[in-house]
This record gives sequence, C-alpha cells and structure tokens, in this order.
Amino acid sequence: MLKSIVWENNTVYILDQRLLPERLDYIECTEYDDVALAIKNLSIRGAPAIGIAAAMAVALAGTRINAKTSKSFLESLEPVFEKLLNTRPTAVNIKWAVERMKSTLKKNHHRSVDEIRELLINEACNIQKEDIEINRKIGEHALGLIKEGSTVMTYCNAGSLATGGYGTATAPMYLAKERGIKFQVIACETRPVLQGARITAFELMNAGIDVTLIPDNTAGALLRNGKVDFVIVGTDRTVRNGDVANKIGTYSLSVLCRENKVPFYVAAPISSIDLSIKSGELIPIEERPSEEVTTIKGIPIAPKGVKVINRAFDVTPAKYVTAIITEKGAFLPKHIKYIHNDEKLERFRLKL
Ligand code: MRU
Repeated sequence: MLKSIVWENNTVYILDQRLLPERLDYIECTEYDDVALAIKNLSIRGAPAIGIAAAMAVALAGTRINAKTSKSFLESLEPVFEKLLNTRPTAVNIKWAVERMKSTLKKNHHRSVDEIRELLINEACNIQKEDIEINRKIGEHALGLIKEGSTVMTYCNAGSLATGGYGTATAPMYLAKERGIKFQVIACETRPVLQGARITAFELMNAGIDVTLIPDNTAGALLRNGKVDFVIVGTDRTVRNGDVANKIGTYSLSVLCRENKVPFYVAAPISSIDLSIKSGELIPIEERPSEEVTTIKGIPIAPKGVKVINRAFDVTPAKYVTAIITEKGAFLPKHIKYIHNDEKLERFRLKL
C-alpha cells in the first residue's frame, strides 16, 4: 500500500496528493513549517493523515530545536503547536495529535532533551502505526455490510491515503477484497478538488477493487433507482450528539439516502470524535480559496472575479446517520457520547 507520509532519518516525506493520479512525488520536509504548509495546501489531507502529519511535524521540530533544558525545549515548541492548530480547523485529529504529543512532553519533562526528542519521534511513529490497526478494526466491524454482489457508494477520500493505511470508510472494502467477496464501489468525484476521482478511484483501482466513478450529481439518480446498497463516508469531526462534519456535499448525500431508504454509515476513528462540542453547528468549518472552484489545474472555468462560496466541509445531522462505525464497534449516533465508557458501549454495540 502506498503511504501518504513517511518518517525517515529525521525527515518527513509526504506524498503530494495534489498531483495524483498522474504523479507519485514525495515532498521532502526538513522543517516543521514544510509539513504545516503541506497540510494547508492539501498535499496531505484526510483527517487521520493530517493528525499523523501534525505529530510528525512536532517531532521534526524537536530534532531542530537547540535547547539545553527540557523547559526551554518545551517553550520552543509552543509556536509549533500554534502553527499546526491553525492549518486546517475542521479536522479535530490535528488537535488530538498535538494534545498527544504535548502529553508525551509533560510525562517526560524530567528527562534529558535528547531523550525527549527520541520519545517524540517514537510517539509520532506510533500514532501512524496505531492508526493502521484502528482502521483494520473499523473494517472488521463494518465488514458484515459488504455481501456478495453488494454495491457501496462512497464520497471524497476516506481511504488509505487519508490515514495511516486501509482508510476508514474504505477499510471494509479492503477487508472484503482480502476475503474474496465480489462487490463494487461507486466513487463520487467530489468537487471542487476531486478527491473521489483523483484519489479514491486511484487507490481502489490499484487494490484491484471494482470501482466506478460518477459526477457528484449522478448520486441521486443511482440511489433512487435502487442501485446502491449503502453509502459509507469518513468524518473530520463527529460531535457529542452524533452530528458529523465531513467533505462538503456529504449532507446532501445523507438526505438523498434518507429519501431513498438507503442506509448511510459514517466510519469514525475515536481520534475524530470530539465530545467537547455539543452539536454540529458549533463545528468550525474551513473556508478555502476561491480558485479551487473557479479553476481546474490552473485553467479558468468561471468568469474572472465571480463571487464564490468554498466551504470545505458540511455537517450531517445525526438523524440522517444510520450508524457510526468506530474501532470499538458500530453505534447509533446518539450513543457516540459513551465512546469512552466501555461498560455502556457493550450494551449499545450494533451488529452490522
Ligand atoms: O479536504 P480533505 O480532502 O482533507 O477532506 C477529507 C474528508 O472529508 C474525509 O472524508 C475525512 O477527512 C475522513 S478521512 C478518513
């Protein structure tokens, strides 16, 4: 499997997803700023992957800081945290990863600067490794949804390249493929920057999964004609009441699913769940440059100077979500608030 990000010899290599599917180029990041820029300009994207990138950026900054005491080392990292938290506001994974790196720092403040540096590198690499395991678990909990002959629709890219590996929404697809189940995937192209066309179609084809690409506005007709068994998407932030922020257009798809009685599932690693926010309207929604809408590969497709709305994400209300599938199992959106309470979860776990 292609990796979206690699740590090697105190350098971070990021697969430039802006160039997919034509080119497979890795950006060499020698400073944490390079990683922050790669997150901001979508060279690396997808909530878990940008969490991993943020953790690696902290570790990378640690290798470049010249400090004698752990106290001054810690102080020098403050602007790094600040910068990373300001790259992309919707995915809570960046905050989650930064908090985890901070807690490694706190737990080890009594150690030498060299030791702390090493521990930060280990922590960032562990976040990446654990993410692969988490996704496999999500895949196992969702596998029952994919039957012989199933047609699955997905949106944007919640795939291997959006995570440490396997993806979240795509994890059951990779597992079904491994088990020899025959099924097909419909990938929505996902305007404006086409993650579905450029990335999901690319990675599923590479894995030998039967994938068909559609323009976003074809989804409704297929859902209405009974051509789709279920829809599964990822999330950048799922909040306490089960509302889900994901790529702009996810909300419309969820409403189409409800109208046409097609189940709508969300794959959500716990790192994307934010219980500190009560409901979806409080989730910060990223606004992106208008050029993403008015041009394709630098070629204008709209009149110069036209006004543009380019929100990167929207919020799907919990009422449209059939179930949220995490590494701890599948749950109704209203039960996601118990995600850290294993006793309660046991009672509410759904069998898909
Ligand atoms: O703007 P992007 O490409 O980072 O948006 C990505 C998505 O919306 C994904 O569905 C989400 O991050 C989940 S990735 C497992």
